[in-house]
Amino acid sequence: MTQTGQLIQTLAVDIGGSGIKVMVLDHAGEPVSDRDRVDTPQPAKPDAIIAVILDLAQDKQFDRVSVGFPGVIKAGVTMTAANLDSDWIGFNLATTLSDLLGKPVRVINDADMQGLGAVVGQGVELVVTLGTGVGSALFLDGILIPNLELGHHEFRKGATYEEQLGRAALDAAGKKKWNDRLQKAIASLEHLFNYDTLYLGGGNTKFINFELPVNVKIVPNISGLLGGITLWREK
Ligand code: BGC
Repeated sequence: MTQTGQLIQTLAVDIGGSGIKVMVLDHAGEPVSDRDRVDTPQPAKPDAIIAVILDLAQDKQFDRVSVGFPGVIKAGVTMTAANLDSDWIGFNLATTLSDLLGKPVRVINDADMQGLGAVVGQGVELVVTLGTGVGSALFLDGILIPNLELGHHEFRKGATYEEQLGRAALDAAGKKKWNDRLQKAIASLEHLFNYDTLYLGGGNTKFINFELPVNVKIVPNISGLLGGITLWREK
């Protein structure tokens, strides 16, 4: 509850390499606004991205903010930003946004936020997001082990998962090769993590053209924002 007795609303923000999405969620995590999307400005420097968020937030009612960011996050500070701009390294996004919006802000890795919106809290759950970059998140009984960066780990032929399965790789190699690689990646990840469930998220899941194993599920893109409510239940 807010001081005026109204139920808390959360502005969920998903910063991506190609788009920035925002939506307001009610206390139960139900959307109470449209999902707005704006292309990520280029160069994707902090000032330019923050300006987009302020603009998208302008006409919305909210009490707190959750941000999913495509890089490693430590205490609200962005430590990496492979698909944005090196100016982000060491940037205190949580404090900066909180000062500008006058609301409490929590920042988390984008795949971690998507995972918070997707997992059911049973056993080992792995989340892999297929977008501009390749994101990953690991949960044990619903508890997040933050900042898993599988995307930049070697996968095969001297290339990382992101180099083989990110947007640039999909465009360069085509859908058939990308799907073959994804099948190999799933097999490799199952051997490594012995997960109970693997969730695949991100815009490029729409290109998957093979039958997934029973313990692999596709999660809707919107969970990238829905995780914004669960984030406030975390410590
Ligand atoms: C970043 C991850 C991010 C992923 C998806 C990768 O390049 O290193 O932190 O989750 O892209 O956006």
